[in-house]
Amino acid sequence: MELSSAPLHKGQLPWRGLLLAASLLIYWSSPTKAQVSVEAVPPHVAEGANVLLLVHNLTETVHVFYWYKGENRDSSNEIARFITSTSEITTGPAYSGRESIYPNGSLLFQNVTQNDTGAYTLHMIMENFDLKTLSVQFHVHQPVTKPSIEVSNTTVKEMDTVSLTCSSNDTGISIHWLFNGSSMALLGLTDRMKLSLDNSTLSINPVRREDAGEYQCEVSNAVSSERSDPIQLDIIDLGPSDNSPNKVDEVAYTVLSINGQTPKPPTSALPSPRSTETVYSEVKKQ
Ligand SMILES: *[C@@H]1O[C@H](CO)[C@@H](O)[C@H](O)[C@H]1NC(C)=O
Ligand SMILES: *[C@@H]1O[C@H](CO)[C@@H](O)[C@H](O)[C@H]1NC(C)=O
Ligand SMILES: *[C@@H]1O[C@H](CO)[C@@H](O)[C@H](O)[C@H]1NC(C)=O
Ligand SMILES: *[C@@H]1O[C@H](CO)[C@@H](O)[C@H](O)[C@H]1NC(C)=O
Ligand SMILES: *[C@@H]1O[C@H](CO)[C@@H](O)[C@H](O)[C@H]1NC(C)=O
Ligand SMILES: *[C@@H]1O[C@H](CO)[C@@H](O)[C@H](O)[C@H]1NC(C)=O
Ligand SMILES: *[C@@H]1O[C@H](CO)[C@@H](O)[C@H](O)[C@H]1NC(C)=O
Ligand SMILES: *[C@@H]1O[C@H](CO)[C@@H](O)[C@H](O)[C@H]1NC(C)=O
Repeated sequence: MELSSAPLHKGQLPWRGLLLAASLLIYWSSPTKAQVSVEAVPPHVAEGANVLLLVHNLTETVHVFYWYKGENRDSSNEIARFITSTSEITTGPAYSGRESIYPNGSLLFQNVTQNDTGAYTLHMIMENFDLKTLSVQFHVHQPVTKPSIEVSNTTVKEMDTVSLTCSSNDTGISIHWLFNGSSMALLGLTDRMKLSLDNSTLSINPVRREDAGEYQCEVSNAVSSERSDPIQLDIIDLGPSDNSPNKVDEVAYTVLSINGQTPKPPTSALPSPRSTETVYSEVKKQ
């Protein structure tokens, strides 16, 4: 770090040259150290799409490539083999008609189904007759369907509670909410808003004028996402009620119950002017 960031003086050039030569020597003297690996591209694939099981870093000739379904080399699970010397392809009992084996050992799956999810094993007879076995996995997902929003009433009085529920028949999804077309995660939820653990229900308590607008939910999995139709939430304005004694009462009730103190019924006598003032300023801050 220090060397490369320091200004270069003439005397440092041979030193850097040596370092470079040394690293090139290490590289050239060990070409077989390159680690052969297999990769599923993509690892998460939509039903009906294709996936390629790629063999990387193959630096030597391979006599035979064998592909098996599952993690074991079991002849009843053989999909296909490729014999390099004759370019001969032989299919096995696990061949479904949708797989193609290539001369470089890679295996292409077309039109995948849920049943194709899982592990696959590549077995190779190397140039020097060493054996190499590698496994890889991919996951097939059904594209999600369009969700819908359930709400008891899209017209809500200010200070009431409203709950929006994102309804979807899909499993293994994550749910996100949008307000007026923007992600609510980015906008930031106010402290009056709560999401259920799985994000499927958005509750607003108490609802305010500024919550009026279009709500949508979006469900997604590893391969797709869909948004619900927007629902319009209308808020019935209670008027400029900041001075209304009724409102202060309701607010005092809410704040007191959050603090875990015995809530006073809203209809009871007003609290002392001192505590009303405290609660009132607390609410104005939000
Ligand atoms: C190929 O091998 C090299 C050297 O072991 C390694 O650094 C590199 O990550 C490998 N590439 C892949 C795609 O496996
Ligand atoms: C192997 O061959 C297939 C088909 O020609 C090609 O798509 C793939 O990129 C090749 N794999 C590598 C690692 O070069
Ligand atoms: C893909 O597979 C399904 C059954 O799994 C079949 O109905 C469909 O015709 C296939 N599509 C293609 C393009 O082969
Ligand atoms: C998936 O596998 C099950 C049981 O192995 C089989 O009954 C079903 O027909 C298969 N589905 C497809 C689309 O191949
Ligand atoms: C929805 O709420 C508003 C305001 O409280 C009310 O006027 C309306 O009748 C309600 N609609 C339904 C379908 O319950
Ligand atoms: C879920 O499935 C049921 C029954 O097939 C259907 O009535 C409902 O509309 C579906 N819901 C969604 C959100 O797709
Ligand atoms: C819930 O939403 C948040 C913010 O959008 C997100 O980070 C999180 O992954 C979601 N959780 C689930 C279970 O969908
Ligand atoms: C959201 O959209 C509604 C119109 O649907 C608009 O009246 C409201 O001001 C918007 N709210 C925000 C915070 O952008």
